Amino acid sequence: MDNIRNIVILTGAGISAESGLRTFRAEDGLWEDHPVEEVATPEGFARDPDLVQRFYDERRAQVIAANPNAAHLALGRLDSAWRRGDLLIVTQNIDDLHERGGAARVLHMHGQALSAWCTACDARHAWQGTLRNRPPCPACGMAALRPDIVWFGEMPYQMERIYRAIAAADLFVSIGTSGAVYPAAGFVQEAARSGARTLELNLEKSLGSRFFDETRLGRASDLVPALVEELLAQP
Ligand code: NAD
Ligand code: APR
Repeated sequence: MDNIRNIVILTGAGISAESGLRTFRAEDGLWEDHPVEEVATPEGFARDPDLVQRFYDERRAQVIAANPNAAHLALGRLDSAWRRGDLLIVTQNIDDLHERGGAARVLHMHGQALSAWCTACDARHAWQGTLRNRPPCPACGMAALRPDIVWFGEMPYQMERIYRAIAAADLFVSIGTSGAVYPAAGFVQEAARSGARTLELNLEKSLGSRFFDETRLGRASDLVPALVEELLAQP
């Protein structure tokens, strides 16, 4: 890990698994109980808004009850200490465990469980409670709030900023993501094309494993603290 200045870290559900938040595609994963098209598409929301609001009310309550694990805390440490260049944590996760683990440079490309978005006036509000009771938007008063989550078929947030950071990166690290969902699954190839070293940390080989220079298999709570030590020990 020599001569690294700019780092981009992509995280997925796997980094929060040891905090008790279920991943999506595991055997006991979230999509096993709820077909994706019912709860994570604009069409599903139009068809049965109550079901979708209840699904995300539950996600929100679980996020509030969860705590950051050793992997989130290690990335928080890295974010505070890294001064050799830029660092950006791009997360597909809708939880706030990176922030509570001490990281500040975090971008939520798939939105946030603890945010509500008004489809009438476009305002976003920090949100801890439920949405299934159709509360009024604090800004415009309309009962038009939806979870501030990027559903399938919608555009992930801040893609230009993400691609700019990847183009400037010397190191791209992917942690706890299956590599099944684009555009995040394609970031590794973008990073490799711009000359970054690419490293994957995951419990098992992801779909895109062959695109990485190096894969380390194991639990995020073991692998991430070890990587952070390695990076901070650079001469
Ligand atoms: P998608 O998964 O429907 O589309 C991915 C496309 O890539 C599909 O066409 C699929 O066939 C293809 N593909 C999958 N794996 C591949 C591989 N290994 N090699 C080549 N092709 C492969 O996703 P989408 O419709 O683009 O989703 C839009 C956005 O919404 C995504 O960023 C998604 O993560 C997001 N989203 C967020 C949530 C949430 O709850 N946070 C839920 C659903 C969707
Ligand atoms: N340590 C490291 N990796 C782990 C751990 C762990 N303790 N537990 C699970 N994993 C790995 C799994 O092996 C799997 O490859 O994390 C990955 C989680 O994959 P998914 O459940 O598919 O989650 P993710 O890749 O984040 O999903 C991407 O898809 O459904 C959409 O928008 C949703 O943001 C989500 C996106």
